[in-house]
Amino acid sequence: DKGNHRHFMAKEIHEQPEVVGRTIAHYVDLATGTVRLPLDLPFDFKALKRLVISACGTAYYAGLVAQYWFERLARLPVEIDVASEFRYREMPLEPGELALFISQSGETADTLASLRYARAEGQHIVSVVNVPTSTIARESAVVAPTLAGPEIGVASTKAFTCQLAVLLSLAVAAGRARGTLSAEDEQRLVKALVSVPSLMSEALKHEHDIELLSRDLAKATDVLYLGRGTSYPLALEGALKLKEISYIHAEGYAAGELKHGPIALIDETMPVIVLAPHDAIFEKTVSNMQEVAARGGRIILVGDERAAREASVETWTTLTMPAMDPIVAPIVYAVPVQLLAYHTAVFMGKDVDQPRNLAKSVTVE
Ligand code: F6R
Repeated sequence: DKGNHRHFMAKEIHEQPEVVGRTIAHYVDLATGTVRLPLDLPFDFKALKRLVISACGTAYYAGLVAQYWFERLARLPVEIDVASEFRYREMPLEPGELALFISQSGETADTLASLRYARAEGQHIVSVVNVPTSTIARESAVVAPTLAGPEIGVASTKAFTCQLAVLLSLAVAAGRARGTLSAEDEQRLVKALVSVPSLMSEALKHEHDIELLSRDLAKATDVLYLGRGTSYPLALEGALKLKEISYIHAEGYAAGELKHGPIALIDETMPVIVLAPHDAIFEKTVSNMQEVAARGGRIILVGDERAAREASVETWTTLTMPAMDPIVAPIVYAVPVQLLAYHTAVFMGKDVDQPRNLAKSVTVE
């Protein structure tokens, strides 16, 4: 049932404050402002030397964001790869370490094969899955559920943001166990996490502006997405979302990589979507925006008010996000990224819920 929405994808985008809120409530103790994992972990985060993560597509991008979180908050080194590579890499894994798999459907063939490889190598297997009865859930020692509810639209939206909410909770729990986060740090992070649903509702209020912007985006043949830090995987996700439902060619890049090649593409016809909350590396992203502006690229800045004020370049449009702790920005900034792809594809008359050549569950490699 699509409710009042034209497409499942629209319904699922709009459901996010609710389902992400439900997911967060499952992993944090609201009364004490601490993370409380409802999981029986057969290992101690403190004893781990390394975490490996594998997944496909959008779920892989959630893993890339989590890599920053686990390394920064828990000082736990992370190795991550797409499952189609991971399964054949023959990566040496020391027994007793942790392997994390992320999947909406829980049926993705490559992710399942990677899980089996890691299990055979003696890893503890934890999976973040949305379908609790799935094969990946059944084959995992520990299942960390996303409470997104059924996701019908082929393009993943609410499952992605719920995955991020679970992964941030796990990273905070790991940081606490490893002694890299103080009690105050944890309180601050949990507070930021708990504020996410209302921040997402704020972000959804930009839908009309995004819809207008999408009419211009629909004319582009190529679109570039840039970001640094956790905004980098989000840039990859933005490009994937746009290409899979609108069929416009899009690329996501780490903003600092611009001058190593993609800058050659920039001219007056090229929309460049810059995902830049005002975080610790914002100044660096500003330099990259200046490089784009100097070549006539059309910058669409997705940032908070402070970022918009300090960007010091002429942007084509700015989508102003609410101010927030930068740690949760990738969860909230997913909303404008999804809406931009959705409205562009709808404006172009594409079938957003059933894009060509794609299946919701990829059970063959
Ligand atoms: C993109 C998309 C795909 C899936 C990928 C993994 O919008 O939906 O990239 O994320 O096929 O699927 P799951 O999460 O079911 O393993």
